Amino acid sequence: MTTRKALIVGATGLVGGFCLQALLDDSRYSKVIALVRKPLLKTHRKLNTIITTYENLGPDLSNIHAYDVFCCLGTTIKKAGSQKAFKKVDHTLVVTVAKLIKKQGAEQFLVISAMGANKDSKVFYNRTKGEMEATLRELGYPYLRIIRPSLLLGPREEFRLGEKIAVLLTPLLKRFLLGSLKKYRPIEAEKVAQFMVKVAREKSVVGVHVYESDVIE
Ligand SMILES: NC(=O)c1ccc[n+]([C@@H]2O[C@H](COP(=O)([O-])OP(=O)(O)OC[C@H]3O[C@@H](n4cnc5c(N)ncnc54)[C@H](OP(=O)(O)O)[C@@H]3O)[C@@H](O)[C@H]2O)c1
Repeated sequence: MTTRKALIVGATGLVGGFCLQALLDDSRYSKVIALVRKPLLKTHRKLNTIITTYENLGPDLSNIHAYDVFCCLGTTIKKAGSQKAFKKVDHTLVVTVAKLIKKQGAEQFLVISAMGANKDSKVFYNRTKGEMEATLRELGYPYLRIIRPSLLLGPREEFRLGEKIAVLLTPLLKRFLLGSLKKYRPIEAEKVAQFMVKVAREKSVVGVHVYESDVIE
């Protein structure tokens, strides 16, 4: 019988929702802990939900012990209201969770970054994602998996213009974005989530590994 435990943060999101389901379906995990701001609609014998405001993560995470951590947190500058508020989620919260949970024995951290992440980029979004990646690298996880998807496709209640346009253009983009350009094709959020759970198994890939969108696809 397996006793492996997973922690997922961002389980109420598009990728996070698919990732949570994939973890619950995976017989390797006996327990899946979801750190969320609001209760999940889902119940499952393996699922343990921890509600947090993310303001006091130290105490909120203090009793959580998980080997694999799946981080699907994120927002947009528009939704967060400012670049500073965006960075607080996509950099500070991600890194804080990673630091705290590593102290409690986590060995593997899987994080969704984004295509184009680069700490030296002039583009704020790409720079923030790149800085987040760079800080995670410094934490020294035995297994750090950085997932860099292109534009995500999937059922979302919130209206996001870029994603709507991507849905319309996807058939065309698939025909023309070939070879090294494949990583620019929009990608199904469900595929990204399933990929995260799949690579969490690959223990031969030790250290830091970055997965671009074409590899995920
Ligand atoms: N959208 C794209 O096309 C795209 C492309 C490449 C990479 N990405 C990245 O992929 C990741 C997942 O994207 P997604 O579209 O699945 O995200 P999403 O649907 O917007 O979900 C984001 C998750 O983060 C949580 N969150 C947001 N703001 C928070 C805050 N202030 N405090 C605590 N939790 C907060 C949300 O919780 P609540 O439900 O409580 O709000 C939700 O669980 C993100 O890092 C994103 O940057 C996205």
